[in-house]
Amino acid sequence: MKVEGRTILITGASSGIGETTAKTLSRKGGKLLLLARNKPKLEEIAYRISEQGGYAVPFPVDLSDAYAIADVAKKIIAGFGIPDIVINNAGAGRWFTVEETASADVEMMMAVPYFAAFNLTREFLPHMRTRGSGQIINISSVASRIVWPGAASYISARHALDGFTKALRTELHGSGIHVTLAIFGTINSTYWENNPGSRERLPRTDRFNRPLTVEQVAETILKSIENNTREIIKPRIFRLIFVLNTLFPKISERIMRM
Ligand SMILES: NC(=O)c1ccc[n+]([C@@H]2O[C@H](COP(=O)([O-])OP(=O)(O)OC[C@H]3O[C@@H](n4cnc5c(N)ncnc54)[C@H](OP(=O)(O)O)[C@@H]3O)[C@@H](O)[C@H]2O)c1
Repeated sequence: MKVEGRTILITGASSGIGETTAKTLSRKGGKLLLLARNKPKLEEIAYRISEQGGYAVPFPVDLSDAYAIADVAKKIIAGFGIPDIVINNAGAGRWFTVEETASADVEMMMAVPYFAAFNLTREFLPHMRTRGSGQIINISSVASRIVWPGAASYISARHALDGFTKALRTELHGSGIHVTLAIFGTINSTYWENNPGSRERLPRTDRFNRPLTVEQVAETILKSIENNTREIIKPRIFRLIFVLNTLFPKISERIMRM
């Protein structure tokens, strides 16, 4: 669909992928609803967007809280109507082995992105169904398809997001609502500062891939809206890696352990 004039909700809009994507979509004429916890940062980004002639409204919210999600969704529906596009991008989590992961960490990592994407999407779905149009875009990682040691909860949460996206797509078949799963390899974003110790746990094979920039990611998300893309996999080499992983999982695991 065309971005111009569309109401686009994006979570995790206070930094990294979310911030840059919001700015990119606003330059294309999208009306942005910005969700994350950091109120001053969201307000600053909304201000910058409006300075450039765009439209953005900040909604500070902790997306790990299902009640807060229901509340913010009500406010959005009452004030701005049903978003045309929902981008579930918020996510966090430091990379630990299973033994290093406290129960609070695993709960937090499942809460955002997985539960947050599930709960937020559910709030808008009945209205989108009635309208018969919309797009849900879930931002994930190659960790939703392949595994490596030292990031157990992160990988589990991204696998859950992958399953949710596929299940959602099958339920929405014929509804006019498109579902996009965006799978990215390493991106040079604030993720690594916000989740210290994680970058050191990237598999060594990651050296062979040039990290994506947040601008490249934002452009890809923009194109996925314009083209109703079903699935994004970037860098493209991961298409091949996923096939190899399906056909030869033991070999794939061995490589990722290196
Ligand atoms: N960076 C990478 O290499 C990479 C690769 C593939 C996929 N991804 C995925 O892309 C998504 C965005 O990552 P990023 O690189 O942009 O990282 P980031 O800069 O750390 O951004 C994460 C965003 O999520 C928000 N967030 C975290 N917990 C939240 C909560 N409880 N409630 C509301 N918002 C919350 C943060 O805002 P507040 O702190 O203000 O709440 C922030 O805006 C993540 O799910 C990540 O797994 C990243």
